[in-house]
Amino acid sequence: MDNLKQAPVPEEQKSTDCRILNECRIAFPSLSANEGYARACAAAFCAQLDPTATEISDIKCAVSEGVTNAIVHGYKDSIGEIIMTLRMLPDRVVKIEIRDKGCGIEDVSRARTPLFTTDPAGERSGMGFTVMESFMDSLRVLSNPGKGTKITMTKKFSLIPRNRR
Ligand SMILES: Nc1ncnc2c1ncn2[C@@H]1O[C@H](COP(=O)(O)OP(=O)(O)O)[C@@H](O)[C@H]1O
Ligand SMILES: [Mg+2]
Repeated sequence: MDNLKQAPVPEEQKSTDCRILNECRIAFPSLSANEGYARACAAAFCAQLDPTATEISDIKCAVSEGVTNAIVHGYKDSIGEIIMTLRMLPDRVVKIEIRDKGCGIEDVSRARTPLFTTDPAGERSGMGFTVMESFMDSLRVLSNPGKGTKITMTKKFSLIPRNRR
């Protein structure tokens, strides 16, 4: 067993390259007016990859859902700080993190279930996490009830030549 643990990791099993090639961070109060600002920032950051219109639209939708959740659920009737970090990783992968220090989520897997919402009387559809999952390649949700929530999403951008879009 010990020998196994110390065996060198074969090249093809080595984890993906996580070097950060570029990183930007914005912090803003949880005002609904700032949802559009966060969306535009994420789109502008991804523009360096010369994305397709669909890719940009996917990023905007996912960020919009994540930030809206922090505003309407995380901070509910209060105003708190939201931090969004955008990272460029190798191989055209973008990693987006959205953090709040709001109420947190009691049961993350239930919250991620399609159509689940704690606000059925409001305008919510319970599809926010489902939208983020479908438009991005990965979604991780970490939450501490009473302390806040951090979501991390990644998306790998294609390399489609302009004349074939
Ligand atoms: N940042 C957050 N802070 C606290 N609760 C959250 C947060 N994000 C999501 N939730 C919880 O997860 C549920 C599901 O979120 P979502 O799929 O976006 O649906 P909706 O926003 O339409 O309710 C929300 O109703 C809420 O209870
Ligand atoms: Mg939502």
